[in-house]
Amino acid sequence: MKPEDMQEFEIHQLLEAIYFRYGYDFRDYSKASLERRILHRVQQSDLNSISEMVPRVMHETAFFELFLRDMSVTVTEMFRDPKVFKKLRQEVFIQLKTYSRVNIWHAGCATGEEVYSMAIMLKEEGLLERTRIYATDYNNHSLDIAKKGIYPAEKMQSYTESYLAAGGKASFADYYQAKFGSAKMAESLKEHITFANHNLMKDQAFAEMHLIVCRNVLIYFNPKLQDKVLALFKESLIARGFLLLGDKETIDFSEVKTSFETFSKKERIFRRKMYV
Ligand SMILES: C[S@@+](CC[C@H](N)C(=O)[O-])C[C@H]1O[C@@H](n2cnc3c(N)ncnc32)[C@H](O)[C@@H]1O
Repeated sequence: MKPEDMQEFEIHQLLEAIYFRYGYDFRDYSKASLERRILHRVQQSDLNSISEMVPRVMHETAFFELFLRDMSVTVTEMFRDPKVFKKLRQEVFIQLKTYSRVNIWHAGCATGEEVYSMAIMLKEEGLLERTRIYATDYNNHSLDIAKKGIYPAEKMQSYTESYLAAGGKASFADYYQAKFGSAKMAESLKEHITFANHNLMKDQAFAEMHLIVCRNVLIYFNPKLQDKVLALFKESLIARGFLLLGDKETIDFSEVKTSFETFSKKERIFRRKMYV
């Protein structure tokens, strides 16, 4: 047997075990990043093979938590791709202003920076008071950081630049309190955000969303899982609701494509059609 076939078999066994035991279906994650991350865990835990992970995940929930953390790439920042935020602000928010209540869902919010960026913009556009933001991830460790909303103060300089590039209207420093090398996001932003655990592989749709933001998450899924998640988003959106994806992500290949129109190709903003 070729070593790569052996490895594929071992990964298959591991993912089946995880699905059986925890209901988390990593079988539809993209193969390259799966392999990399699993081999990293083998090395970090001083194991001799991928197969040795099987009894560990089956019997030790703490080991499974470690695996989950390995699988979750949490790289994020405030006002990531500022032009996208600017576009939202200039063209999508005008539409959102026509509703008396607005629901926004950030799926795969990681440590929360993207969510606070959104809340800041909504506040400046007079929309925050009528908005509820649902921010979800399946990584509890990241969610804890997101809920606290405390970030390294040294990052604030570059975030200020991105805030301004995104069309920020006030002083970015108004939105956090700097103390002992940390920056704590303002409570007035947090009040409008509900952080919750939600697993895109297996959990239910949300109801009546006006805007769904899911950036840099689908890239880790194979086309089958991407399709399933996009169908979940379609179900969660109101007619004429917006979907924002990451710059390498699209709905083009997906079955939901006909239910959406492209609102802004460059910024990956799609809009749900009225009757499909
Ligand atoms: C690279 S971060 C993206 C953060 C943010 N959206 C951004 O673009 O800056 C990807 C996030 O997706 C989350 N994620 C991956 N698979 C997920 C799943 N099945 N359900 C929920 N979140 C998931 C990871 O835990 C991670 O926090």
